[in-house]
Amino acid sequence: ERIPEVEALLAQMTLEEKVGQMAQITLDVITKGENEMVSDEPLVLDMDLVRRAIVDYGVGSILNTANNRARTVEKWHTVISQIQDVAINETRLGIPVIYGIDAIHGTTYTAGATFFPQQIGQGATFNRELVRKAAEITAYETRASSIPWNFSPVLDMGRDPRFARLWETFGEDVYHTKVLGLEMIKGYEGDDISSPYRVASCPKHFLGYGTPLSGKDRTPALIPEIELRERHLPPFEAAVNAGVQTIMVNSGLINGVPVHASYELLTELLKEELGFTGLLLTDWADIENLHNRDRVAASQKEAVKLAINAGIDMSMIPYNLDFCDYLVELVREGEVPMSRIDDAVRRILNTKFKLGLFDTPVTHYEDYPLFGSEEFESVALKTAQESITLLKNENNILPLSKNSRILVTGPNSNSMRALNGGWSYSWQGEKVDEFAQDYSTILDAIRDKIGAGNVLFREGVRYDNDAAYWVDEAFDIPGAVRAAANVDYIVIVLGENSYTEKPGDLHDLTLSQNQIDLAKALARTGKPMILVLNQGRPRVIREIEPLMSAVVNAYLPGNFGGLAVADVIFGDYNPNGKLPFTYPMYVNTLVTYDHKPSENQARMEGVYDYESDFAIQYPFGFGLSYTTFEYSNLIVSNNELRPNGSLEISVNVKNTGDRQGKEVVKLFTALHYASITPDVQRLRRFDKISLEPGEEKTVTFTLTPQDISFINARNERVNEAGDFDVMISDLVETVSFIK
Ligand code: IFM
Repeated sequence: ERIPEVEALLAQMTLEEKVGQMAQITLDVITKGENEMVSDEPLVLDMDLVRRAIVDYGVGSILNTANNRARTVEKWHTVISQIQDVAINETRLGIPVIYGIDAIHGTTYTAGATFFPQQIGQGATFNRELVRKAAEITAYETRASSIPWNFSPVLDMGRDPRFARLWETFGEDVYHTKVLGLEMIKGYEGDDISSPYRVASCPKHFLGYGTPLSGKDRTPALIPEIELRERHLPPFEAAVNAGVQTIMVNSGLINGVPVHASYELLTELLKEELGFTGLLLTDWADIENLHNRDRVAASQKEAVKLAINAGIDMSMIPYNLDFCDYLVELVREGEVPMSRIDDAVRRILNTKFKLGLFDTPVTHYEDYPLFGSEEFESVALKTAQESITLLKNENNILPLSKNSRILVTGPNSNSMRALNGGWSYSWQGEKVDEFAQDYSTILDAIRDKIGAGNVLFREGVRYDNDAAYWVDEAFDIPGAVRAAANVDYIVIVLGENSYTEKPGDLHDLTLSQNQIDLAKALARTGKPMILVLNQGRPRVIREIEPLMSAVVNAYLPGNFGGLAVADVIFGDYNPNGKLPFTYPMYVNTLVTYDHKPSENQARMEGVYDYESDFAIQYPFGFGLSYTTFEYSNLIVSNNELRPNGSLEISVNVKNTGDRQGKEVVKLFTALHYASITPDVQRLRRFDKISLEPGEEKTVTFTLTPQDISFINARNERVNEAGDFDVMISDLVETVSFIK
């Protein structure tokens, strides 16, 4: 894409200036202070270091916060103004810096910003409008912090519950991820990213990051091309078609090749085949990693050559400016063509230009009166409410009466940190409790709801907040058991502490032994228990699930999660979240809903038994309500579909209970036979509707052959002639695809 102003600038740039634009450093490199991961040091720029980076090296981009800690919006303004001042007034061409952060569920490093449920919770809402609105608010508050670039959304597939970053995805289904990902991008970018209320988004991590073989972050993945194209590529393809500005690359290896060195994936697939014209950014130190960790480059310089020639436009260095020196040498030596440098710099400058940074390099927080407003926070509460997923409700024990006496227990019951998860005020979320004091934990919210006098609190097990997220300690299980004698119900809140990336790696998907012990000890009291799960991934709860009268999955609901959970438990809100992943029952039985028939031998034989080979705790898309819905009258416009044709599909949904409720209407298809063994079912459409008691609505969907196409053994997307089922709830119609 040629923008005249950018072309004019490019024509004047020296090689060094161009290469500088391709460098992104972390703020820590240019600040005074200890630069420890978590530090309370004031954020003060070291102007000598700022000049070294921006004037001497011409660095084009900066990311994240110094000392990994949230700052006020005023502070951000000061810091970014100082940086832009040097970039604009002290460099030859006055090119502004582009500053980026991970505002993945709110403006991560800005105190007072609005925090939404993490992406997995937003996935559970199945609500397009809310996902878009949350992104719009995040864009507004990020720009209010003078930051125009957001490393979000995550378009990786959450298909492996062991993966530490499952909660950063929308879940396991590729269509659902594609649809919600597009909404999030639309919310961030709007129609014009030069608007002072929008940011450039950065879908990540291209491609196949979410499914490493071991389940551990940045470990090798083996993903055949057929699977890459069937289940990993479509959300990115849709994002590129929607004109997304930037994309971040997967840190891992796919089929033995580090993605950062893959010409095939980055240039041939992303830039040439999909036609991505935006800026392609590395992940953290991933060019260095080609040498240090992945050993495909015998030196750092070789690593730079490989990555830039593979198609990387900007290196999140983030510490070592040698990158610039190596790249200048490589161009001079003819190892990296000048045309590649020009292409990369053009993409970077185009993004800066489109963002309006040349005209407005810094925004003024005074122009953002809605920052952290009640209006914005009410959207965060609504999103949290819509994410809460009721997984079990034996004998309709929920909602509880507000006259009940309740024991609130468990390590997640009184923790804002656990409600928010990683990327909240700091990288691992360690600083949440300091910054989120004005919000309610689940305990606070229950006390407010039914009166503190009706609530006993014994944590029983607690996290060691100074250790890795998964270390918990059983310090008072007997205390919790004693307290249970004096209550009607126990609300036990279990799960995980906050984490992200490598520190979130796990050896065992089962819930911690201390938490299982707490649940079992309390079960012996005979008091009915409500289990609230507050966790980033589905920890295995098989042993304790039968002890629970109700199970409520809260995921990582953000600052309003405490209120949302209490609203659901006491019936002020009728739950309507749906699981965006299959909840596993066993550590060795990790299957997705869209599996092949042979994964589920028992069902093939007509037996449906949880102890079969297909033992799952709760299925994808599952979630109960306090009302009931009846589906009827599935009508498919035609029993044949032809290549240029389409199908109109309608179904009636009626609220047959006695309170208002929301329902997610999901349309699945299943091919009967195909040259590639067909998946047992695939989600093709969904819609969320609200129904008053007794109300009935007709929901209509349109399907085209594209929707039932699949990748064949030649890695081509095709439609084959044959029958397929259209399924909504338990209604089924069969259609023939005729070529
Ligand atoms: O955007 C993130 C990425 O998701 C993981 N590594 C660090 C990046 C920048 O903070």
